[in-house]
Amino acid sequence: MAKLAGFDGVEIHGANGYIIDQFLRDGSNQRTDPYGGSVENRMRLLNEILDAVISVWSSDRVGVRLTPENSFNSMSDSQPQQHFGYFIEQLSTRQLGYLHILQGDMMTKVSLLDYRALRDKFSGSYIANNGYDLQKAQTALDNGDASLVAFGLPFLANPDLVRRYKEQLPLNPVDFDTFYGGNEIRNMRISPVSSLRAIKRSDARKETQWNDESFPSYLTKLPRPAHAPCLHPCMQSR
Ligand SMILES: Cc1cc2nc3c(=O)[nH]c(=O)nc-3n(C[C@H](O)[C@H](O)[C@H](O)COP(=O)(O)O)c2cc1C
Repeated sequence: MAKLAGFDGVEIHGANGYIIDQFLRDGSNQRTDPYGGSVENRMRLLNEILDAVISVWSSDRVGVRLTPENSFNSMSDSQPQQHFGYFIEQLSTRQLGYLHILQGDMMTKVSLLDYRALRDKFSGSYIANNGYDLQKAQTALDNGDASLVAFGLPFLANPDLVRRYKEQLPLNPVDFDTFYGGNEIRNMRISPVSSLRAIKRSDARKETQWNDESFPSYLTKLPRPAHAPCLHPCMQSR
């Protein structure tokens, strides 16, 4: 489906306490069957998913996202440096497009592991994430601690983050009230730099007239490439 939709590749989400992560970490994986116990067993599900995905996409079009330390969703592991060292060594043999690591804890930003040691176990492109701003990202790239850096909160507050970084423009402050968590429409009120006045949030609120009716009509206006028909039932009538 992702290929049909015209994506360049897919990321396997092995992070943040969702199903793959629940198998990887021993705080959650209490199984006594071939999917639990040793690191080899705990990685079995991810390996099977990778085999399946790589049978559709070439491996260089597949990325994997992991969170060795993130406690989100009540996750934990007894020896994250060793266990994720093993997982990453195994992933390194797959010629993946990239490995994407949320370093440390997503909420507290505390980071106790040696991520440079983990990074050095992976031979391909390594994307670092968690708590980066432009300067920290540049330092990580310069030091070889990462090949690429992913931004979360700064991007959520600034949909045009790349332009703002390039042109050294001020950033919207992070406002958790506007993030996903019940009223997604409010996300649309975060201002792009359509005009520099929009950087000021009070002005932005006045200028942006999104409401429940305009959101779906905005979606229907998105161009759909002729070579990539959307097969999802909700789109077939559009
Ligand atoms: C509102 C919100 C929603 C998020 N949703 C997801 C998600 O669905 N999947 C995911 O892997 N990470 C999700 N994250 C985590 C971010 O992708 C990112 O890893 C995290 O915010 C740390 O990066 P940052 O310090 O640059 O924000 C979310 C973060 C926030 C704040």
